[in-house]
Amino acid sequence: MADPKVSTYVEANATRFLDELKALTAIPSVSALSEHRADVHRAAEFLVSQLRTQVGLPKAELIETNGHPLVYGESTQEAGKPTVLIYGHYDVQPVDPVELWDTPPFEPTVKGDNLYVRGAVDDKGPMFATIKALETLMQHGGLPVNIKVLIEGEEEMGGEAIAEYVMKHPDRLQADCALVLDTGMVAQGIPTMSYGLRGIVYFEIVANGAGRDLHSGVYGGIAPNPIQALAWLLADLKGRDGHINVPGLYEMMQPLSEDERDQLTQLSTEVGQRLMDAGGLQELPGEANYSIAERATARPTFEVHGIRGGFTAEGAKTVIPATATAKVSLRLVPDQKPAEVMRLVEQQIQKLTAPGITFEVQGIHNGDAIVLSPDSPAFKAAAAALEDEFGKPVTLLREGGSIPIVALFDSVLKLPVVMMGFSLPDDNVHAPNEKFYIPNYYAAIRSVAGFLQRIDQ
Ligand code: BES
Ligand code: MN
Ligand code: MN
Repeated sequence: MADPKVSTYVEANATRFLDELKALTAIPSVSALSEHRADVHRAAEFLVSQLRTQVGLPKAELIETNGHPLVYGESTQEAGKPTVLIYGHYDVQPVDPVELWDTPPFEPTVKGDNLYVRGAVDDKGPMFATIKALETLMQHGGLPVNIKVLIEGEEEMGGEAIAEYVMKHPDRLQADCALVLDTGMVAQGIPTMSYGLRGIVYFEIVANGAGRDLHSGVYGGIAPNPIQALAWLLADLKGRDGHINVPGLYEMMQPLSEDERDQLTQLSTEVGQRLMDAGGLQELPGEANYSIAERATARPTFEVHGIRGGFTAEGAKTVIPATATAKVSLRLVPDQKPAEVMRLVEQQIQKLTAPGITFEVQGIHNGDAIVLSPDSPAFKAAAAALEDEFGKPVTLLREGGSIPIVALFDSVLKLPVVMMGFSLPDDNVHAPNEKFYIPNYYAAIRSVAGFLQRIDQ
């Protein structure tokens, strides 16, 4: 049963907990934009101060890196007790298109049961809930286990700082399991744990033509056009059938078990409907012969994020541009190693060049896919805590998104990882009007406390 001391403390401090989350989310810690560098730092300082003064970890520290700082704190005096590594990220996505926000993106605004602000649910709300869970337990006889808290400020930009830190300090981060609150719930009221994340390679393709802009009357019909060449390339790389035309890509992937495919197929209609509703879609086109749930989580993807080039201002200008650029990513599934995938993709791009065109490929970031075992004691403790909180059995979810460091917790630190989800399908993650359903904030605090109390048993 839920610990009444925990529930009472959360209830008694609900307003302050929300105010503190508002203070954190009011800091525009957009990791991708250099003009927010000082804000990102300020968010890290806020968390260090929380760990020191509210949780009572006097040695909590801000760790400078080549990029944005890490926040670290630990409490390890419980000899013989397990150690939980708690992860989260305090950086947020950019806010554009800002005109589509109903309230300013960094003015935390409560409407009904929701807190609207960039970072509300990805990931400041759930991440901060882990800190409030620690505070709550500290107020009631101390932490039942040892903890190490590691919070990064580069998750949304694919930064390397945390990976470097994990590689360099595996001893310091030694633990018995890792806890991550940065994933979703299938629906409000349905406790959800994720057992998989996709990997990613993100890169830019630059198409170069003449080296300078040309008059399309003089050169039209004879000069290479980089935008056209880029369009051909992108169409060749993924056809209308949704198949990715990169030889070797599908051969690398770990095949899905028949069991898991069946599970995904069973979920598919429901998952599809939910994604259509939340995304405002009438169709879900993609690879034939794969269910929607499988395509959304267990198949590799190829998506174009942006194209730049030529003349896009008001009016008309008859120009053949010198260059064009596309930002592209592939989501990956287990055994599709990012470096190997990049090699195959680059090879294929060079094969698909057009006369007079050169393609340059520049990697931006990458991360490994992971599928976790739901059998670890940590997984079971988390499921029990969530079931207690929501009064329903846990639903297991394979996520289509990526959290690159999770694969390293598994491969480098050898930790069983548990992911408890608290974001809802309509929380507008990465989009205008991002929100956190406030009852899920308190549910997350109680669930994390319940998990830490159970992991020892
Ligand atoms: N919290 C998300 C990951 C996520 C998304 C989990 C959807 C579950 C459902 C995370 O902050 C994120 O956005 N990750 C990026 C990673 C990338 C920038 C390396 C992503 O998935 O695009
Ligand atoms: Mn996140
Ligand atoms: Mn995100």
